Amino acid sequence: MSFERLIDRRRSDSLKWQKYQDADVLPLWVADMDFAIPWEVTKALRARLEHDIFGYGVLSQSTKQTLCRWLHQRWQVEATPSQLVTLPAVVPGLNFAIEAMACSDIGFFSPIYPPIRQVAQNLDIRGRALEMPLEQGRYRMPLEAIEQAAREGMQALLLCNPHNPGGTIWHARELEALLALSRQYDLLLVSDEIHGDLIMPGNRHHSLSALATEEDAVITLISAGKSFNLAGLPIAFALAKQGEIRRRLKAQLTGRCATHNVLAAVAMEAAFGRCAPWLDELRQYLGQNWGRIEARLGGVDGIRLMKPEATYLAWIDCRGLGWEEEPSKVFTRFGVGLSCGTEFGAPGFVRLNFACPEQTLNQALERMVRALTDHGKRVAG
Ligand SMILES: Cc1ncc(COP(=O)(O)O)c(C=O)c1O
Repeated sequence: MSFERLIDRRRSDSLKWQKYQDADVLPLWVADMDFAIPWEVTKALRARLEHDIFGYGVLSQSTKQTLCRWLHQRWQVEATPSQLVTLPAVVPGLNFAIEAMACSDIGFFSPIYPPIRQVAQNLDIRGRALEMPLEQGRYRMPLEAIEQAAREGMQALLLCNPHNPGGTIWHARELEALLALSRQYDLLLVSDEIHGDLIMPGNRHHSLSALATEEDAVITLISAGKSFNLAGLPIAFALAKQGEIRRRLKAQLTGRCATHNVLAAVAMEAAFGRCAPWLDELRQYLGQNWGRIEARLGGVDGIRLMKPEATYLAWIDCRGLGWEEEPSKVFTRFGVGLSCGTEFGAPGFVRLNFACPEQTLNQALERMVRALTDHGKRVAG
C-alpha cells in the first residue's frame, strides 16, 4: 500500500475538492483523506457488486461481532452485538440521541466540530458552550464548568473524544471524573468517538464506554468513516449499554431514517475485520506528516501549533500574527484551503487536514510559508 499515491479527486463529486474546483487551491479542510481506501474494502465491495442485487438488508450478527471484537482489541471495550444500535452516520446520531432522551438543555466543549455546536440549534433547545482551558499546549477538560452547568440544569453533554479540532485524547482520569458527575447529576453523556482509531503513534484512545457500566447514562458513537476513509458511506453505531437508553434511541430512529445500507455494511465489516495493518501504517504516515508541519511552521513567530495526540487535524493558533483578516482567507489567497477557526468557535485559528500525500502537504506548507513571508514573517529553512 502506498500513501504517496496522488489521486485526482477534482471530478469525483468530492465536497473537499469541489469547493476550489476551478482555482489553484489545495483543499486541506473537510475531514476526509486523499488516500485510497484499503484494498480489502475495495475487494469486498467488488465481490458484493458481483451479486447484482441490493434490496433491503439486515445487519448480520457476524458484522456486529466483528465490531465488538475490534472494540475489545483496540479500545478495551466489552460490548455485545445486542448493545449496538445502527445509525446512518454519527452526526444524525448526536441529534437523535438528544431527541430520544428529551433533553432541553445540553452542553458541549468549545472550540468544537461545528455540527456538535449545531445540535442545540437544530432541536431548538438550550446549548451551553463550555470553554476548555488551554494548558501547556493541551486542552483540559472543563470539569468545573461542567459541574456548574449540571447544577444549573444541563441534562446532557456532547463529548468529542478524541477532540476535534484540538486533537486531544481525554485522559482516563478526566473521563472518570466526568462519569462521576454524570452519576451525581443524572447527566447524559453522548461521546462521539469517530476519531478513536486515529491515534498518533505512541498514544492510546480512552473510550468512555470502557469505563461505563450498564447503569450509566452513556451513549458512544462509533464509525469506520474517518479511520478507513469511508466517510459518506451510511453506517455508524451507537453503543448504549443501558437498556432503557437503547430502547428510546431505537424508538426515535424508527421511521425517521434508513438504517441499513448493504454496501456500507460490507465496507465496514471488511475495514474492522481485515484492515488493522493498513490502519497502523496509516497512523505512522500521519505521524510523519505531522512532523513535516512541525518542521516547517514550528517556531514561526505568531503561530502556535498544538501537537495532536489523535486525528489528522492540525489546530493552528494564528492570533499572534496580528492579521486583521481571518487567517483562513489569507491562506486561501495563497492557494491553501483550510477550515476557519470561527466556525469552531475560535476566531484566529485554522484547522489543517494533513491526511494527504507528502507531496501535497509539502506544496501546501510552502504556500503557507509564502503567505507568512509576504506578511513580513521570518520562516526558517
Ligand atoms: C467529531 C466528528 N464527528 C462526526 C463527524 C462526521 O461523522 P458522520 O459523517 O458519520 O456524520 C466528523 C467528521 O469530520 C467529526 O469530526
